[in-house]
Amino acid sequence: MNMRELATNTARLAGERLAEQLNAGGAKTQINEKKFGETVTNFDRDINEFIIKELKIHVPEHSFVTEETEAIENGDGAKRWFIDPIDGTNNFIRNIPIYGVSVGYEEDHVLRAGAVYDPLNKTLFDASLEDGAFVNGTPLTVSPVSKSGNAMVVEGYGYDPRYREEHANILNELNRTVKFRRNLGTAALALAYVAQGGIDACVFTGIQSWDCAAGAVIVRAAGGRVTNFEGKDWTTRDDMIIASNGHIHDELLAIMDQ
Ligand code: IPD
Repeated sequence: MNMRELATNTARLAGERLAEQLNAGGAKTQINEKKFGETVTNFDRDINEFIIKELKIHVPEHSFVTEETEAIENGDGAKRWFIDPIDGTNNFIRNIPIYGVSVGYEEDHVLRAGAVYDPLNKTLFDASLEDGAFVNGTPLTVSPVSKSGNAMVVEGYGYDPRYREEHANILNELNRTVKFRRNLGTAALALAYVAQGGIDACVFTGIQSWDCAAGAVIVRAAGGRVTNFEGKDWTTRDDMIIASNGHIHDELLAIMDQ
C-alpha cells in the first residue's frame, strides 16, 4: 500500500467509525478544555486513538503527530504523519455539520500525501504529489479566479490569544478587498475546498500542523500554492498559512503585509 492509499483508507475508516457512533446515538458528547480553552471531546480522543492504531498496523516505524496525544517519535522522524481526528471540533459539538478527519504524510520535511474525509457527506478528498488531487476519485483543479476582488476567501484563527490582534487586522483588510469572506470553522475542509475550486483561497493564523498537513498537499496537487505569510512554501513548522489557487496568492501576501 502506498502512503496516499494508507492516508485515504485510514481517514475513511475513521470517519465511518465516527458516523456509526453518531448514528448509534448512545455515547453522550463529553467536552473538556485544554490550553487556551481548546475543546476536545470523547469522540476526538476515540478517533485519534483509532487512527494511530490503524497506521501502526502498516507503518509502526513511522512517527505520529496528533492533536489529542503526545507525539510518537520513531527512528530519525523522517517519515511522519499529522493527524486531526475531528477538524472542526466546535462545529461538531454544536451540531453544525461541517467537520472532517484529516490525515497527512510527510517525508524528509516534504508533505507528500494526505486525505480529508467529510463523514456526514461521505466526501473524500485525497492527494499525493505524484498522483494529483481527487474528490471521491474525480481529479481536482483549483479555481481560475485571478483577482482578489472577485474571490471568496475563508479565514480562521487558532485558540492562542497572541494571534487575535494580527487576525483582526487581516479581517479588516480582507473585508476591504475580497468579494466574499467566510469562516467555516475547519481548516482541513477549507483547504480541500480550495483544491476543489469552490473557494479561491484561505488564510489561517495560529494554525497547528495537524489542521493543515493533509489539506496543504491536496491544494498543491490540485495546482494551487500554499505558503506562510512570508511567501515561503508552508511547512508543518509554520503557524500561519495562505493557500490559494495561485493566481491571487501574491495579492493576498501583500494584504497580509499591511
Ligand atoms: C480548528 C479549525 C479552525 C481553525 C483553528 C483550528 P479543531 O481545529 O481548523 O478552522 O481556525 O485554528 O484549531 O480544533 O477544530 O481541530
